[in-house]
Amino acid sequence: MNRPLRILFTASEAVPFAKTGGLADVAGALPKALAKLGHEVIVVMPRYYAIDKGKLDHLPGPLGVPMGPMGELWAGVYESTLPGSDVKVYFIDYEAFFGRSGLYADEHGFSYQDNGERFVFLSKAAFSLCYRLDFTPDIIHAHDWHTAAQPTLLKSRYAFDARFQKAVSVLTIHNLQHQGHFFKGLVDVMEVGWERFNPYELESMDGVNLLKGGIAAADAVTTVSRTYAHEIRTPAFGFGLENHIQAHAHKLFGILNGVDYDEWSPANDPLIPANYDIGEMAGKAACKAALQRRFGLPEEPDTPLVGFVGRFAEQKGIGLISAAMEGLMHLGAQFVVLGTGEKWAEGFFSDVARRYPDRFACHVGYSNELAHLIEAGSDLFLMPSLFEPCGLNQIYSLRYGTLPIVRATGGLEDTIANFDPATKEGNGFKFRDATAEALYHTVKWAVDTYRYDRDAYASMQKRAMEARFDWERSAKGYEAVYYHALFSKAVEAYR
Ligand code: ADP
Ligand code: GLC
Repeated sequence: MNRPLRILFTASEAVPFAKTGGLADVAGALPKALAKLGHEVIVVMPRYYAIDKGKLDHLPGPLGVPMGPMGELWAGVYESTLPGSDVKVYFIDYEAFFGRSGLYADEHGFSYQDNGERFVFLSKAAFSLCYRLDFTPDIIHAHDWHTAAQPTLLKSRYAFDARFQKAVSVLTIHNLQHQGHFFKGLVDVMEVGWERFNPYELESMDGVNLLKGGIAAADAVTTVSRTYAHEIRTPAFGFGLENHIQAHAHKLFGILNGVDYDEWSPANDPLIPANYDIGEMAGKAACKAALQRRFGLPEEPDTPLVGFVGRFAEQKGIGLISAAMEGLMHLGAQFVVLGTGEKWAEGFFSDVARRYPDRFACHVGYSNELAHLIEAGSDLFLMPSLFEPCGLNQIYSLRYGTLPIVRATGGLEDTIANFDPATKEGNGFKFRDATAEALYHTVKWAVDTYRYDRDAYASMQKRAMEARFDWERSAKGYEAVYYHALFSKAVEAYR
């Protein structure tokens, strides 16, 4: 049955059109890798206000999306392709839902009150679009809570519809913390039937939990690393859904994300001041000097420089970093931090930069260019996440020869091999306890290795830069899950 598949891939964000995190990197790259394996993929996402209509093609005629008591809503559809491919991207244009500055929240960080309706609308619009394009999907691939209504819709509203009868659904969990919890009236908007409103499917604390329903209804569920697929069955990582997930563990798989090496490679990165690669590392020293200058730190080539790029969210271990800060400031190392998010963290890091101008610099904001410069110019990369479904920055760091210091969880555990001083093997530094002490001692260990064991540091760096996490390998994992789900559905008929 290894035939080419038709895949409907619906996500709330995709590079290069809209991005708040790694989900966009995945949605911009995985469809291309699947297409290279011979599958036909279409990507569906919202036409947010910030996406310039002028650069897209307009698909003539409105798209009707049934929304229960809200009636049928009529959307516009725009079209484009993922850069460097002919994978089609369809943008659902509906001013009242997506004509806003943020993707999920306003500029003060408050989630939009109607996020339930907005993303059920997106989920359903993708089904309507299939009619419109005469596209009969084999696979309906949904991502996170935003499109988690799709598996439930496929099992109910669209179950007896000829166009979708043979399709199976796959739900990828990129982050279990956000589950899409809304008022129960959303059941009517979804039009999935109130019999689904029970504690084994959609219901949670007398409201609708879209992700919970999606996990129950999907033919297969994936997470973005194998370790995370195991962690979420436990109370420490399950965010209340651990028992539910355990009950569905037979259809749960972990497929590690890949990296787009066209964008993230020091050998040809146009965003960094000097290119470099294994065997020709002079450019890295130039990047370090440029990074120090850019952030106003003393230009000291031998001082260990530790970078951090990421959302200022508890998930990313910013609480641990802040608790360890005074100790870190006395290691004789330099630190460069880039991020936005929690206001306390923005204030805290800015304040540390004022108090330790020679040791610590920070840029509060979102800047792709600075993210590349930090990856290239740092010696070490700090990622002490409390949980990390996959994590991309540590994988970028490996390619840039910037050794990661990570907490051993999720994708960090799966991608980073701890330095072993006896054999000199490994490609980074890991700790397990989520404590400021463990973080401090591991940063100190990494900094000391850089200072006093340059040979070990250099051989780890070479190993790190040689490793590849390409999308082709991930796409083959998804392909296997797709076929598995189709086979499982086919044999169900004989039970
Ligand atoms: P998450 O999706 O949980 O935020 P990932 O590591 O999977 O974490 O992906 C984060 C992505 O967002 C990376 O591509 C990273 O470079 C980027 N990123 C995060 N914060 C910033 C920022 N302040 N400026 C530029 N890029 C950022
Ligand atoms: C989420 C996770 C991150 C993962 C990304 C892409 O945002 O927090 O770990 O890399 O999704 O799958």
